[in-house]
Amino acid sequence: MVSRADVIGAYRLFLDREPESEQVVEDHILHPTIQDLHRTFLNSDEFKARSEISFKPFDWPPITVQVETSGPELQAMFDMVNRQWTQLGQEDPYFSVIGDPNYRGTEVSDELRDTFYETGRYEMDRLISFLARSGIALTPDMTCFELGCGLGRVTRWLAEHFRQVQAADISGAHLAMAEQALRRAGVSNVTLIRLANIETIRTIRNFDVFFSVIVLQHNPPPVMAAILRSILENLNPGGVGYFQLQTYGLDYEFRVDSYLAEHTEGPVIEMHVLPQEAVLDIIYDTGCKLLEVREDGQGGATNGISQTFVVRKAGVARKAGGVGKTH
Ligand SMILES: C[S@@+](CC[C@H](N)C(=O)[O-])C[C@H]1O[C@@H](n2cnc3c(N)ncnc32)[C@H](O)[C@@H]1O
Repeated sequence: MVSRADVIGAYRLFLDREPESEQVVEDHILHPTIQDLHRTFLNSDEFKARSEISFKPFDWPPITVQVETSGPELQAMFDMVNRQWTQLGQEDPYFSVIGDPNYRGTEVSDELRDTFYETGRYEMDRLISFLARSGIALTPDMTCFELGCGLGRVTRWLAEHFRQVQAADISGAHLAMAEQALRRAGVSNVTLIRLANIETIRTIRNFDVFFSVIVLQHNPPPVMAAILRSILENLNPGGVGYFQLQTYGLDYEFRVDSYLAEHTEGPVIEMHVLPQEAVLDIIYDTGCKLLEVREDGQGGATNGISQTFVVRKAGVARKAGGVGKTH
């Protein structure tokens, strides 16, 4: 038999989505081996249909993305993200995180809620695997900063592996639910931080590991770039960054002036792109080294490329709370 994390992982890897129901998860758990599970996904019509679109990126054209802008424009875009996600958190908190129609509305059954939080364990396992490939082992004296913790889906698992977690989100509505979830799980080593403006991010310091998944991609490219730069600048010497974002979108284009002029308010989940070259510039400018970058299928779009980056900050890790290497 395979685990539920294996099944949820296969949905994300092969179909780029969450399981549509508890029943399908239960059905797939009956596969005798992981190989068998993966074969089923590879042979499914849905995977084949997706592959026709998403596995032809080689001849995709260049895209135009404005990454630099002025401070006031940056804050104006940050405020738009803030309003969008606060409204999403008030109306559709679970759905806004997991994108599964079963999670519409503010209330879900205890069973669905447990399943929701269980999916976060998979993200923790991925973090550990990625770091292991670079010879890095987490140790309990280390500290973590999570950007965009949402409802605390991954935070509660991060809390098991770190001495202290600073978990930040732009939406007070999401944070209020994260606080309840952490209390229910008996977690007491997480500090929740509301990011009301770009300046607040610059004040977050003293973390050995930076973690962020399915967050940056919801911010206009200049905001993504400014946030990432700030966080990597503040990462402890010898610390590690693990983050996911979209680096390409077919037909994606971004210009600050047209975005500000055409933006409409509402609870919309926007998807944005920060080109890989811009991400690499930030990594190098902040004194980090790229350890691994992978296409991860997490962006949610079939015509885009989502990537997970693992980077290490130059310098010697602090003795207590440093990043341990296994070799
Ligand atoms: C799709 S949810 C993912 C939540 C969490 N990372 C997870 O995987 O469960 C995106 C979260 O990112 C938050 N977010 C979006 N932009 C942000 C920003 N610039 N700073 C902090 N949080 C942000 C949203 O409020 C929301 O809670």
